[in-house]
Amino acid sequence: MTKYIAKKPNANGYVGYIPEENETWQILYERQIKVIQDRACAEYLEGLKTLNMPSNRIPQCGEISEVLKAKTGWSVAPVAAIIPLEQFFALLADRRFPAATFIRTREELDYLEEPDIFHEYFGHCPMLTHQAYADFVQWYGENALKASKKAQSLLGRLFWFTIEFGLIQNKDKLRIYGGGILSSSQETIYALESDVPERLPFDIMKMLKTSYRYDEIQKCYFVIQDLADLFQLKSDKIIPLVESMGSESKGDDFVIC
Ligand SMILES: [Fe+2]
Repeated sequence: MTKYIAKKPNANGYVGYIPEENETWQILYERQIKVIQDRACAEYLEGLKTLNMPSNRIPQCGEISEVLKAKTGWSVAPVAAIIPLEQFFALLADRRFPAATFIRTREELDYLEEPDIFHEYFGHCPMLTHQAYADFVQWYGENALKASKKAQSLLGRLFWFTIEFGLIQNKDKLRIYGGGILSSSQETIYALESDVPERLPFDIMKMLKTSYRYDEIQKCYFVIQDLADLFQLKSDKIIPLVESMGSESKGDDFVIC
């Protein structure tokens, strides 16, 4: 259930936001642009520059899509606040990143359970300008769509620990590439600087066996060495492996985040 209602684009794909919604974007953008410096990975910062999103208003879907299409063949698809899992996977498989067209209320500026447009555009879209990452997300959607329900719940952990909450080693510096972290100022600092969470090396089996909570700050993160590591998931024949685990290991409920 969600209290939010996504806004419907008009015939030209334009979504009309009221001044208060644009101001909410500006507050979030101006705060987060400072926090991510020296914390987001180089690939994300480069992608953010390429997208060149406005700071004072919510970007239009067409503006983001135009840049993504030219770089990696992706676009963003305006969707309802909550969509079925099959639609989510099908959009990813088609290189269309689902983005619910609402922005959080001021009361939920720091934390909300549903992914809003700030999370989708600011958190995820910069990384989608990178081919290795963009290809991985498409591969993920295509395979998750074909997977059994049990396998999907395990695959949810891969999504969670990479696309949403992944860390990456940039030379000798630990940095963030997960969109769930990069759209939260509190977690951007916590993920790198807190002594509380574990930071584990990239390990597919460990990832598949690690449960997650979506309603509290993370207890562990997985660190990749390079975005190309994500393609190990493909070369390791992960889908047959996950399907074979499906009968003996129950995953978490897949949470679209
Ligand atoms: Fe997300």
